[in-house]
Amino acid sequence: MFGCGYLGATHAACMAELGHHVLGVETDAHKLAALRSGQVPFHEPGLPDLLRRGLDSGLLRFTDDYCEAAQFADLHFIAVGTPQKKGEYAADLSHVHSVIDRLAPHLSGRHLLIGKSTVPVGTAADLLVRANAQVDDGHIDVVWNPEFLREGHAIDDTLSPDRIVVGGAAQSCERVAEIYAPILAAGTPLLVTDLPTAELVKVAANSFLATKISFINAISEVCEAAGADVSLLADAIGHDGRIGRRFLNAGLGFGGGCLPKDIRAFMARAGELGADQALTFLREVDSINMRRRTAMVELVSTSCGGDLLGANIAVLGAAFKPDSDDVRDSPALNVAGQLQLRGAAVTVYDPCAMANSRRLFPTLSYAQSVQEACAGADAVLVATEWSQFVEIDPDDLSPIVRRRVVIDGRRCLPGDRWHAAGWVYRALGGTPVR
Ligand code: UGA
Repeated sequence: MFGCGYLGATHAACMAELGHHVLGVETDAHKLAALRSGQVPFHEPGLPDLLRRGLDSGLLRFTDDYCEAAQFADLHFIAVGTPQKKGEYAADLSHVHSVIDRLAPHLSGRHLLIGKSTVPVGTAADLLVRANAQVDDGHIDVVWNPEFLREGHAIDDTLSPDRIVVGGAAQSCERVAEIYAPILAAGTPLLVTDLPTAELVKVAANSFLATKISFINAISEVCEAAGADVSLLADAIGHDGRIGRRFLNAGLGFGGGCLPKDIRAFMARAGELGADQALTFLREVDSINMRRRTAMVELVSTSCGGDLLGANIAVLGAAFKPDSDDVRDSPALNVAGQLQLRGAAVTVYDPCAMANSRRLFPTLSYAQSVQEACAGADAVLVATEWSQFVEIDPDDLSPIVRRRVVIDGRRCLPGDRWHAAGWVYRALGGTPVR
């Protein structure tokens, strides 16, 4: 397993759980040391237990040695990151290329590379050529086996996925299906495709999810203008089985290390293929999403009387979503940063993402608890829907804030309850307080 970040570490531990012998290859010394000692270097519920079980059973090991990896296996998963290139929409494939260039020269005989990273369509075909050009004696095939796991649900999504997709030559796809035999035996559908279809399935799925979120956020702007309630609207349209209620939660919009960069890389690749017109709607999806952040800053500002200078704002939540410590492209931190730039004194609290937040936004103030963050606040902004924030008793905060103003960035709070406790309750997309 090349790359032991979210995807690779989870997949490595899950494959050991299925009874396979797994060698995780990680070149980051800090991550490698943590994994070897049974520590997961990020927050993922259930993964520490699975990792330790794998290590204890002897089925799972970690190394940074490519030569060892070449000798250990004939099936090689690629799970390294494909971040957005600086200043461009396109994906940076340097980590994927580096795996091929460091591994292929050590290979002899027949080997199969199984791509899991999210890549621009056409990458797998290029890697096939690139890898074989570096082998003296043998042949390397490439299949693509995209991953659909969500942070916070990574183990369930890996061991009980909605579907398994494998693209490539029939014989190689069969070998991949053998790896997943227990999962397939439990009834998970297997879809075998060609290489470009498998690559595209992943970015199409993430684009659809991003579009669904931006759709409801666009409707939320109209709801606000018309005095309607977007949450009730989402419930009502979501009852239609063709639409479905999931991913129709309006609020601060999507962030994280996947949806934003994936839709941008998809647009860039479509442009290279001469199909850019087909994806112009994704530009709108992206801009609706980014507009949520500025709209939220405006809502906080108007809730503070139109001027943020000198206002104390408590921001509850820093992770891009609950049950995660990931702050990559986090809407919560982006808004916190914008509020600070507008002159507010911002104090952030998150149950899990404090260390990562401090690294990314060192100039913000951080508190150790909800109470500490809210002390003396002119407004409390709930920016990530952690259950501990949803369950806050407003009466506990009333005595410690300067003004009782709560802004529900994820439309997750019981607005009526806050209202009844004497708070001004605000949310983007119409205020659901009757
Ligand atoms: C996403 C996809 O859901 C996974 O299927 C995919 O495998 C993964 O990207 C990936 O490409 O690796 P993830 O980034 O973990 O997973 O997070 P999601 O649960 O999809 O949430 C993404 C963002 O959308 C979060 O910021 C969340 O707060 C936001 N969101 C989600 C909404 O604003 N509204 C919703 O209704 C749902």
